[in-house]
Amino acid sequence: MNYGHFDDERREYVITRPDTPYPWINYLGGEAFFSLISNTSGGYSFYRDARLMRLTRYRYNNVPTDVGGKYFYLRDGDAMWNPGWQPTRTPLDAYECRHGLGYTVITSEKNGLRAQQCSMVPHGYTAEVTRLRLTNTTAQAKDVSLYSFVEFSMWNALDDSTNFQRNYALAEMEFENEGAVIYHKSEYRERRNHYSVYAVNARVNGYDTDRESFIGLYNGFDKPDVVVNNQPKNSVAHGWAPIASHCVRRTLQPGETLSLIFTLGYCENPNDRKFIAPGVINKEPAHALLKEFATDAQFEEKLGELNAYWSSLLSHFTIQSDDDKLNRQMNIWNQYQCMVTFNMSRSASYFESGIGRGMGFRDCSQDLLGFVHLIPERARARILDIAATQFPDGSAYHQYQPLTKRGNLDVGSGFNDDPLWLVFAVVAYVKETGDIALLDEVVDFDNNPELAAPMREHLRRAFHYTAEHCGPHGLPLIGRADWNDCLNLNCYSSVPGESFQTVTNNDTGIAESVFIAGMLVGVADDYARLCDLSGETAEAAYASERKLLMVDAVEKYGWDGNWFLRAYDANGEKVGSDECKEGKIFVEPQGMCVMAGIGVANGMAQKALDATREHLMFDYGVVLNWPAYQEYHLNLGEISSYPPGYKENGSVFCHNNPWVVIAETELGHGDRAFDVYRRTAPAYIEDQQLHRTEPYVYSQTVNGKESYKPGEAKNSWLTGTAAWNFYAISQAVLGVKPELDGLKLDPCLPGHIHHVTIHREFRGNRYEIEIQNRAGGEKGPVQVIVDGVALAGQTIPATAETGKTYRVEVTVG
Ligand code: BGC
Ligand code: NOJ
Repeated sequence: MNYGHFDDERREYVITRPDTPYPWINYLGGEAFFSLISNTSGGYSFYRDARLMRLTRYRYNNVPTDVGGKYFYLRDGDAMWNPGWQPTRTPLDAYECRHGLGYTVITSEKNGLRAQQCSMVPHGYTAEVTRLRLTNTTAQAKDVSLYSFVEFSMWNALDDSTNFQRNYALAEMEFENEGAVIYHKSEYRERRNHYSVYAVNARVNGYDTDRESFIGLYNGFDKPDVVVNNQPKNSVAHGWAPIASHCVRRTLQPGETLSLIFTLGYCENPNDRKFIAPGVINKEPAHALLKEFATDAQFEEKLGELNAYWSSLLSHFTIQSDDDKLNRQMNIWNQYQCMVTFNMSRSASYFESGIGRGMGFRDCSQDLLGFVHLIPERARARILDIAATQFPDGSAYHQYQPLTKRGNLDVGSGFNDDPLWLVFAVVAYVKETGDIALLDEVVDFDNNPELAAPMREHLRRAFHYTAEHCGPHGLPLIGRADWNDCLNLNCYSSVPGESFQTVTNNDTGIAESVFIAGMLVGVADDYARLCDLSGETAEAAYASERKLLMVDAVEKYGWDGNWFLRAYDANGEKVGSDECKEGKIFVEPQGMCVMAGIGVANGMAQKALDATREHLMFDYGVVLNWPAYQEYHLNLGEISSYPPGYKENGSVFCHNNPWVVIAETELGHGDRAFDVYRRTAPAYIEDQQLHRTEPYVYSQTVNGKESYKPGEAKNSWLTGTAAWNFYAISQAVLGVKPELDGLKLDPCLPGHIHHVTIHREFRGNRYEIEIQNRAGGEKGPVQVIVDGVALAGQTIPATAETGKTYRVEVTVG
């Protein structure tokens, strides 16, 4: 069964029934104010940091699912309903939800009353603004009552959901315009200089701000006392749980539309201007905000600006190919998801609570591959933030908080792949922008200005840390884990509940990672070239020499006969070998080593990818390992705590599928590359009921072939899958590759794509690229003609000139 469809013209996904197999959400906001909004109007808002600055409350793992959001309740005669269906779940006569780029529109109808709510976080404002339009489509007048609803959070989301002895005593409110403007100012009396406001641009007929009064202690969100009785109580929260609800009653004549604008804002004051009288908050910033959203015309204008912003962002890279689904992925949804991962990293989704994980060192670095062409300046700033958390020895905290930008140890450190991801990110950034001056930026180590050093030194320490922390086979030590957080080879944990991410109790100093070896090889040439370009020839030579040593080590000790080994454990035993009973083969080293070019010349790479197809491939992608672990293995850690087929133990961990795509293109296999791609790409997924998560974005994990329910997905939105797929298709398959020296054209297309046109903006110039694929599904020779002149080689050299348009004809085969 289908629950919706794409509308490419409007760049929207249209959901046609509210009871989707899982809540299907969207993200509003791109700078400081963020909201998650589901197709039934569930979700929450925060300012910058989902953990430290939570504005509205959300209960994860709730029953029924996804209750708690920004709701509108309607009373029309006996009928009581919500435009988004939840939480009353009153059957609707019509329902549609359109998730667009940075906005969501829900339209529904019941008994001839049509409601349309359109929500956005306008560009440049710290507010979520919703326009609600109510239309009487009948021939009789209707008396309608509307109740808005938001529930405030006590800022720190962890505290908010645990520290009730304190929280229940904190709430304080203020009002203006008889309750049309409601202020939540808990803790403002002490150290905070910020508050929230929830306002409607109309005369109200009452309000409520105390949750218990509004809902009733023993009622659910589906039967709030005030709405059931259709009578606001004008309640004022003093302690307990503060909410904001406006009551608006109007008579709608036949055909008449009532339009209301609701603004949920975050406001700050300078410390010396917090109050205008004892206990009375300074409302100036709120007044200024509300003035901007007082009329429909203003709302329309801001929505127009938001649309224009997205159009301009997405215009940096567009394609037209024979494959509509590919076009939809590349032009809209893949890039949109990349922006969401830029904003959220792994902090807030319907699977990430906003409390557990902040910004990941490796996650942010990899996400950059998907957004650097869209927002290069912000990518630069992100790199500096990440680098500033790096330890002086070159290793890294695993994550940092977006608000403080300081590294924290909540999920540990010592993940030995982390350092090199910084090098990958910087390489990608300089390739895109040519901004080699980044290497001279002076950046803290461990957020300590006294330890600051130029970026080039950060890269040097990262590279050396990896190259010089090697084990008995000359392969990099894995440390706490590598990309696979759950391959915990030095953590022999038998204590229930102990964190695999922070405990190390059996570090024999010998557990090695073939995956990190592949990373080092993969980044070494670019790193060396970067060093050369900035005059560091000795360091360039070091990188090249280390690369050769590492290739050698992988070919000697990281090769299992038919595929690349995964690792050596703390006893020096093989992981990911045919000799193992379970976990014989892992995808990560096959993808990473072949991407790095290891074994391409001697046939190892081909064998590794053949083995990947043979053992790991299934209908919904390439699984992480096979056979999945059936039992818990003390020497392997968290990977074996998942039942077979889930997460890191044998699911399709979508993040590493594009590595296989890229690897296949290294060998010129366009059809095989695309075959891997389409198995996880959202636009190609047909069984929405089985898949369950949003059909417009990637999920982190899809249950593998050995699981109870193969094909079911989890952890949608916040995954490196988005960035890597964008990178894989744009650079490896379509072959438009920013390089340090220019733009390289090197497509490796599947046979069904004969013709592609691409518009690519690169270092201030426009490239109108037309590719003819005469090679079929295996790559052939590539010829490039620029403005009618045949190019020697495949790289169009970068120039200092900007503002030019180049016509590029590429022929493959
Ligand atoms: C998950 C990993 C995740 C890690 C981060 C583990 O439980 O399986 O996917 O990266 O936690 O803390
Ligand atoms: C999710 C994490 O965010 C990512 O950093 C990690 O590489 C994968 N899980 C695999 O464990």
